[in-house]
Parts: sequence; structure tokens; C-alpha cells
Amino acid sequence: MTFFKLQALSLISSAAARYAWPDPKYEAIEQLRWDQRGYGSTALFTPCDTFIGGTQTGRSNSADWVRAAYHDAATYNAEDGTGGLDASIRFEEEQQRAENVGTGFANTFFFVNLIANRYVTYADGLAAAATIMIENCGGPVIDYRGGRVDATEPNKPGVPEPQQSLEEHVASFKKQGFNKTEMIGLVACGHSFGGVQHSSFPDLVPELNDPANTESNARFDTTFRVFDNAVATEYIKGTTQNPLVVGSNDTLNSDKRIFGSDGNATMAALAADPEHFARTCATLIAKMLDTVPRGVRLTDVITPIPVKPYDVQISYNANGTLNFIGGNVRLWNVAENPNRVVRGVVTDKNGVALKPVVLSHSSFQIGTAAGERFTSTWYTWPTLPAMDAAASIAKFHYEIDEGDGTPVRVADQDGLGFPMRDDVLFSETSCNYDSTGFPRPWRFDVAVRKGLNASRIFLQTYSLPTLTLEPMLREVGSGSYDLWSADVLPENDGIWTVSYQIEGMTIDVPGKHRIMLIDCPA
Ligand code: HEM
Repeated sequence: MTFFKLQALSLISSAAARYAWPDPKYEAIEQLRWDQRGYGSTALFTPCDTFIGGTQTGRSNSADWVRAAYHDAATYNAEDGTGGLDASIRFEEEQQRAENVGTGFANTFFFVNLIANRYVTYADGLAAAATIMIENCGGPVIDYRGGRVDATEPNKPGVPEPQQSLEEHVASFKKQGFNKTEMIGLVACGHSFGGVQHSSFPDLVPELNDPANTESNARFDTTFRVFDNAVATEYIKGTTQNPLVVGSNDTLNSDKRIFGSDGNATMAALAADPEHFARTCATLIAKMLDTVPRGVRLTDVITPIPVKPYDVQISYNANGTLNFIGGNVRLWNVAENPNRVVRGVVTDKNGVALKPVVLSHSSFQIGTAAGERFTSTWYTWPTLPAMDAAASIAKFHYEIDEGDGTPVRVADQDGLGFPMRDDVLFSETSCNYDSTGFPRPWRFDVAVRKGLNASRIFLQTYSLPTLTLEPMLREVGSGSYDLWSADVLPENDGIWTVSYQIEGMTIDVPGKHRIMLIDCPA
């Protein structure tokens, strides 16, 4: 068994010990961190040799995203606990500082803005962006934690600049929480990707007049799109073209001063063994990404959930019946198997397990993560007949039959099942007031079980900026549920979710809802 397979197994067993579905915030961060490529992915990945964000050639998103994460984290002040990785670099005021020269920060947030939502902060997104690019472009698997909190204003300056002295750099990294050896390692790790651009440092890098490198990016090493130790091997061999080592203006040769500051001991070790480079970088990059303002509590390392339901919900029909919408289930890191049968079993509130249904799977329903070291495979529930509201649905589970004579695996959260609540539901009576125009005003209906003592029922946007819509209006009694409605105005268009408060707890109802295509009755 390979190292990575062993590591995958240990990740899975530790995840199983801590986590129970549903936990929408944990699941959203887990999706961001692990569903990296292919089916179900959040698309926070671009190919390693690609630059999306302009017509220039010679750049890559991987370099931008890693540099952006560092420049955000580098504002940390270990003495007073301020600054750190909190996405403050998204503010224009920070981007305009001389220490943050270049367009890479705005470009990075073009992507991070797309994935941030009610559960995923910009800061968690930025940390995930760096993690995913390193892992998929030749680098090691990084311990990723969630729970970063977004700054509401720019941090104080603090990012090191190439013209500063070695003493200033040592002091700066100490302030960021890194000792001298860690400083050498972290700079080497970061400068495995990318290089220095003419537009940012015209005195350091000349115009290259190369159609394949219109950005005139002078690379730190010859494998600038691969996260590997060439930055160290070329430096030790003396063949390096790193512009911060061999630049003609020695004042700007900060990598030369930093790399040589311990007589090359750290760089020689990083050059001698690619595995040592990978392990060192995994540790240092994780530490950099976990450099957060004092008081912010990060989660444990986010490990893949072995059997993960996606997009499951119960909805309410006009005639008082309920739909169980099973969505998808993701099986983590199992090989494709045409003989595998995945069945879903729903248990109603009387404890009666309904007839198992077979979930479907197509060859495109697969994904990969961490540079193809892990796979994910999805199965989809069929549409089930509507259910009686009184019997309703208490829970569901999966049976996974590999079709090879081995025992059927029951995925039921150690006997608990995957529990469902039916107190507050999205109602299929939601509708469009005007289906001809765009954007369209629409009516969002929510079914609330009669007698439920909820203190508040409200809608929130899923994607940022988070908007809350309340109160719910127009209560209408029907069967065992009351229907509550709210008008969602055109300017509020987006993806909406339902939440309610009961006994001091806020419960997010599973399910995301876009504009309805059904016209409201005249
Ligand atoms: C004393 C510390 C450091 C100095 C003085 C420094 C300096 C620089 C300079 C001058 C550039 C060129 C920027 C441009 O052309 O726009 C650069 C690029 C870069 N830096 Fe650093 N850096 C330092 C530490 C780090 C660290 C710790 C990381 C990450 C762990 C990092 C990641 C990067 C990356 C990925 C690029 C390439 C950007 C691209 O090609 O678009 N740097 N750095």
C-alpha cells in the first residue's frame, strides 16, 4: 500500500470519529477543500499551466493564489495577535500598497469571490485556493483547517519587500511567527511557483519580448509551474536564474541573502531530498495558512467524509404531501466498480423502512483531489413518490453492495441514520409573479408544521453578500402545515435558503433555492 493510500485511510477514520451529518458549515468547507476537480467540484482550481484573468502569457493562477495567501498572512503581528490570514488583502487599500505590487491579488479574489458563501469565508477560500493549487501542481497534501474570519478593514502593513536587509527580513518573519530556518524554508516553498514580473519590478526584470511570456515574468526556477524543489537544487548547483538571487541590482537580491543566511544548510537539505522539501513545505504552508488573528478558532484538520449526502431535502406540495429529494451521495476514494449497487433506504416516522431504491451512477460522476491522489464517486437518488405528511420521513441510510460477494456495507452513521427534520420546509407552491421579465419578482413559500413554536422564520442568501429577508408574510393554513410567504424582490435574486429559530437555536433547513419557473396563480 502506498504512502498516500495509508494517509487517506487514516484521514477517513479520524473524520468518522468526529463528524455527524447534517452540519452545513462543515460540509460546505469540506466540499471546498476536497471536491477539487470533476463532478461536484467547487471549481477552485485552474490547470497549472494556465492563467485565467487576462490576455498575458507567462503567468499562472497557481503563483498568484499562493502569493496572495502569503501577503494576506504576512500582516500578522505575533506580539499583539493582530493581522494574519483574514482576507484583508481583498481591500483595495491594501492592494495599492507598494508591498503588494501587481495585479495578482485582485485576480485571486476574482476566483475566491465566486466560492465564498454563508458558510465559507473569503479567508477560508483564499487558504483553500493556495492549498488546492499546491496539491494539484506537484506539491504535498496540506493539512487544511477551516473557520477563518474575514477582516472588516485593511490590516496594518507588514509584507517583506526585496530591498529590505536580511535583519529586517528576520525581524519581519519573527513578527509573522516564523524563525530564521522557517523563513528560509517558507520563501523557498513559495518561490517554487512563478517569478518576478517586469510590470511590477521594471528595474529588476527587463522586457523579454517573448510571445510565450508577454508578462515578462523572470522565473524563480525552471519548473515554475510545478511545486517541486528545483528552486533549491538550481540554487545549490549554482545554475539558478532566480531574479532575486542573481539580479544585477544586489539590493533587490533578497532570496540570495535569505537562502544563504545559514551558510546554505537549509537550502542544501531541501535540494538533497524532494520528499524532505515536500514535507517541510506541507508543514510551513499549513502554518502560514493557519496564521490568523488571535481569538479566531480554527477547526480540526478537515478530512474527507467517507459517505457524504449532498443536496438532500424534504419539500412540501400544494396537496399537503411531502417529497423526499435524495440528491447525491459521494463515496470517497473508492475505485470505480460497474458491479457496485448503491441503495437508498428511507425510514418513516413510524419506524417503517420503505423499499430500498437503487441510486444511479454515470461515468462522468467522478472527481479527483490533491493531484489525483484521491477520487470521489457520486450516485444519484431517483425521484420517489410523494409521501403522506403524517408518516413523513425520519431518516435515511445507504447500502453499498460491491457485487463481489463481500458483505454489503451499511452507511448509517453508526446506527443513527442520516436524520431528517420536517418542521419547516421549502414549499413547491413558490412561484413567479411575472415570468416574462428578468429579473423576476417571486413568492417564496415555506411550510411550517402546525404547532411548531418557532420564534423566527427567515430566508438568507446562500452566496455573498448575505441578505436576510424577514418577516415572512401571508400565513395560510393547509393540512398539517401552515404556509408562510415572502416576496423576493428582483434585486435580491440569487440562491436562497430557509432558516428558523426555536428554543434559542438557529436551524438551517437543507436545500438551496433559485428563482421559480412556475407562474403564481392569477
Ligand atoms: C522576504 C520574503 C519575500 C520577498 C522579499 C518576496 C518577494 C517577491 C517578489 C519581489 C516577487 C515578484 C512579484 C511580482 O513580480 O509581482 C515575488 C513573487 C512571488 N512570491 Fe515572494 N517574496 C517573499 C516571500 C514569499 C513567500 C513566503 C511566499 C509564499 C509562501 C511567496 C510567494 C511568491 C510567489 C508564488 C510569487 C510568484 C508570483 C507570480 O509569478 O505571479 N513569496 N516575491
